Amino acid sequence: MRLLTPRLILREFRDADFGSFRELEARPETYHYETVSPSDEGTREYLQKAQQDALQSPRTRYRLAVTIQPCDDVRGRATLLLLNDSIREWEIGWAIHPQDWGKGIATEAAQRLLEFAFVELHAHRVVAFSHAGNTASLRIMRKLGMQQDGLLRETRLWKGQWSDEVVYSILDHEWNTSHTKDQ
Ligand SMILES: CC(C)(COP(=O)(O)OP(=O)(O)OC[C@H]1O[C@@H](n2cnc3c(N)ncnc32)[C@H](O)[C@@H]1OP(=O)(O)O)[C@@H](O)C(=O)NCCC(=O)NCCS
Repeated sequence: MRLLTPRLILREFRDADFGSFRELEARPETYHYETVSPSDEGTREYLQKAQQDALQSPRTRYRLAVTIQPCDDVRGRATLLLLNDSIREWEIGWAIHPQDWGKGIATEAAQRLLEFAFVELHAHRVVAFSHAGNTASLRIMRKLGMQQDGLLRETRLWKGQWSDEVVYSILDHEWNTSHTKDQ
């Protein structure tokens, strides 16, 4: 699968991506708000699992590489995972190489993935979870038109401290309305 945006290609991972993907995964900034950073082996496993996702039918997981045209190196990852089939609820996620932060790359990738979720997967709800202190991620959620559903108190043990997590969502009719307004 390939999703195009004006600047990006979101595509399936390949074994050959290990080098550029590892550069993203090994950066401490990428995992600043997470509890653990993956090892080399963990990154290899992610690549394998991401490729297995593409063989599923029906597919419930999309773990895609983000590349910046015209280069084919991995500069980020964007994910869409089925959370609750009975209410057509999917979870979206993102990470971009720190050298490319602040250029709107994550927002552009996530907007395309949201469109895919609502148009192709007929999602009813798309949700995103974030450490409450991850202001860049929260800003993306708001730019996508997502609204805060709630705050999960002390659901993350982060750097030795209990930390809160926020949940944002956007519904199919909200996305349709904003999308129609943009035309
Ligand atoms: C979160 C992340 C994906 C953002 O990627 P990005 O490509 O820089 O994002 P964008 O440029 O599309 O948008 C970031 C927005 O956050 C804002 N922002 C960035 N850092 C900020 C901060 N410390 N405080 C407030 N706003 C901030 C930017 O100004 C921008 O908003 P704007 O367009 O209104 O100016 C990137 O920082 C990252 O990969 N972090 C590590 C992984 C991660 O945390 N993933 C999310 C897990 S929930």
